[in-house]
Amino acid sequence: AIERTLSIIKPDATKRNLTGKINAKFEEAGLRIVAQKRIQLTMEQAGKFYEVHKERPFYGELCEFMASEPVVVQVLEGEGAIAKNREVMGATNPAEADEGTIRKEYALSVGENSVHGSDAPETAAEEISFFFSGLEIVG
Ligand code: CMP
Repeated sequence: AIERTLSIIKPDATKRNLTGKINAKFEEAGLRIVAQKRIQLTMEQAGKFYEVHKERPFYGELCEFMASEPVVVQVLEGEGAIAKNREVMGATNPAEADEGTIRKEYALSVGENSVHGSDAPETAAEEISFFFSGLEIVG
């Protein structure tokens, strides 16, 4: 089925001017960028977005990192977009990511791992509506 997923190009990647190279990976995989904006998250917004990780030891560090520099938030659309995006991103830890994936090529560490992607249809819907209104998504 055609799906939509929420993607974030993280501060380590925007800082190194990698937005275009990362977008090329998505487009080469057949994912369409149907919404996109560059924003800088506040600590409060980052904390809310990552609320599910609140009890994890890395939560504070994660929120500070996500608020440290601009991010590019986007909606990717395509056949099986949620799983396809996770394939293109590669494993969370770049040391475990497959050749050719975004994280293998660009991520610096498990924290500074260049991209985020929704992990399931329910979280994709929630995460998309966290950042975008229906009018901002043009399929
Ligand atoms: P993401 O897909 O954005 O969702 C949660 C993030 O937490 C994850 O990517 C990682 O960047 C981050 N994360 C996971 N494990 C660790 C860790 N051990 N130390 C720091 N950050 C982590």
